[in-house]
Amino acid sequence: MSHLLSFLLLFSSLLCVTNSRASIAATQLQKGYYSKSCPKAESIVRGVIGRAMAREPRSGASVMRLQFHDCFVNGCDASLLLDDTPTMLGEKLSLSNINSLRSYEVIDEVKEELERQCPGVVSCADIIVMAARDAVVLSGGPCWEVKLGREDSLTASQEDSNRIMPSPRANATSLIKLFSQFNLTITDLVALSGSHSIGQGRCFSIVFRLYNQSGTGRPDPNMDAAFREKLNRLCPMSGDGNVTGGLDATPVVFDNQYFKDLVRLRGFLNSDQTLYSDNAETGEVVKRFSLDPDAFFMAFVEGMVKMGDLQSGRRGEIRRNCRVANDQLKEDLQLIRVLSQG
Ligand code: HEM
Ligand SMILES: *[C@@H]1O[C@H](CO)[C@@H](O)[C@H](O)[C@H]1NC(C)=O
Ligand SMILES: *[C@@H]1O[C@H](CO)[C@@H](O)[C@H](O)[C@H]1NC(C)=O
Ligand SMILES: *[C@@H]1O[C@H](CO)[C@@H](O)[C@H](O)[C@H]1NC(C)=O
Ligand SMILES: *[C@@H]1O[C@H](CO)[C@@H](O)[C@H](O)[C@H]1NC(C)=O
Repeated sequence: MSHLLSFLLLFSSLLCVTNSRASIAATQLQKGYYSKSCPKAESIVRGVIGRAMAREPRSGASVMRLQFHDCFVNGCDASLLLDDTPTMLGEKLSLSNINSLRSYEVIDEVKEELERQCPGVVSCADIIVMAARDAVVLSGGPCWEVKLGREDSLTASQEDSNRIMPSPRANATSLIKLFSQFNLTITDLVALSGSHSIGQGRCFSIVFRLYNQSGTGRPDPNMDAAFREKLNRLCPMSGDGNVTGGLDATPVVFDNQYFKDLVRLRGFLNSDQTLYSDNAETGEVVKRFSLDPDAFFMAFVEGMVKMGDLQSGRRGEIRRNCRVANDQLKEDLQLIRVLSQG
């Protein structure tokens, strides 16, 4: 396992060929946005993500997930990264995020290094998008150029995160509807769900489908028996909900194993298995990606770019610290000064 990972870390940057499929420039975001203002920005991000993944392979998946949870809630504006304040409940403690999202400190590490090199230039929102791409590349997935130039929000909304982010219980119909609200197609939905090719999920997210699917008192019937027994051992009915298992059979390698698993009824989350088992249209796409890794990679890149284009339309700023809006940071620093003098 560790041999495989170091192989991927070493060679994926060499194998990486620029994906030159042109995308329609609907926004002011652009490729190479920092090439003059901070030429090392992209290589700094790649370096920090590579080191984080060498320390802990799962951190790649955790960082990649941040793009989804940021971009779906009022656009890709790093609202996700703001800590709660006395007057604002942020997104970190929303239903989908609490005890689940992780590796915020890896983003902090990227930001600190960027602030040393080019203070006040690179947004936290762009860091998330670069880091997500790098995590995929360094896990053996496709490579693409990201569009940059996002601004960071001044605020965040726990309520919006609660309202928008899907539950692991979600079915294909509700996922199709949710994604269509962001102009993401059925192919985008299935391809982006393929991000579950890497990373882990908690027992908390699957016990209902192991023991009481839709309140039936029975397990989800769309589950291979041997796989279910394995999950029953990992996640006993009243066991520790924080225990985790791989989202597919090869959770540190970005590949199309996730889709092969779904076809064999070995999906981890209900929201994964439903794409194959409950809907003919998404099921066709799952089948195609299970047979054709290149088709999956191309569709995944397209989905990530589209998701990265989501914007709030509100004006923002370049945060100095990804956890705090600049005005708040100034107040905090003043308070610290006063306290340390008095
Ligand atoms: C289609 C709707 C989706 C649902 C319902 C969903 C739900 C989940 C759930 C429940 C987990 C496990 C969380 C836990 O148990 O703590 C998870 C993990 C993950 N999700 Fe999703 N997800 C969806 C789409 C996406 C998308 C679009 C991406 C990124 C492009 C993504 C990336 C990830 C990654 C990488 C992990 C593993 C994170 C880690 O190991 O820390 N997911 N997701
Ligand atoms: C899918 O989920 C939605 C929302 O929870 C629910 O209203 C609907 O009945 C479900 N559809 C199917 C086919 O199970
Ligand atoms: C989806 O597309 C429609 C029509 O082009 C556009 O008006 C709308 O703003 C788009 N929605 C999002 C979330 O991008
Ligand atoms: C299963 O779920 C239903 C409905 O949510 C609930 O009424 C029932 O008590 C649950 N059964 C068990 C064994 O937890
Ligand atoms: C998981 O751990 C957190 C923090 O230690 C705890 O607050 C939470 O209740 C646990 N969640 C579950 C589902 O056991």
